Amino acid sequence: MDDDELIDRAREATASAHVPYSEYRVGAALETADGTVFLGCNIENANYSNSLHAEEVALAEAVKNGHHDFARLAVASSERDGVLPCGMCRQSLSEFCDDDFRVLCDEEDSKSEYRLGELLPDAISAETLGK
Ligand code: THU
Ligand code: ZN
Repeated sequence: MDDDELIDRAREATASAHVPYSEYRVGAALETADGTVFLGCNIENANYSNSLHAEEVALAEAVKNGHHDFARLAVASSERDGVLPCGMCRQSLSEFCDDDFRVLCDEEDSKSEYRLGELLPDAISAETLGK
């Protein structure tokens, strides 16, 4: 699967978003080392703070299914205006992904690519905790 196809999967995931408050749909497609793709969408809550982010939903689904090794992440939004994983999602990804992990972001007419290490330098890690 090429990068554009993974972004298409992230766009597809926006259809499942539950966003009555922000009306901002986010989709994530997380590819594992064996090529399996897990999708996630944002799921909002009336108290706002319980809202789940698309990336963490995809990550939870993958880990729940026994995957700890990941190849790439694509994210897309309903606005396609340059969505980026937030700081919390960057830290969640860093639990399983190295600094060179590729993050593909959908934009209106193009895509941007980042490495997790540039999005979140000096992540808190098992090493930080001496584990
Ligand atoms: N959102 C995500 O799903 N992922 C991010 O990393 C950024 C923010 C969602 C949360 C909320 O439902 C909406 O986007 C607006 O912040
Ligand atoms: Zn987030």
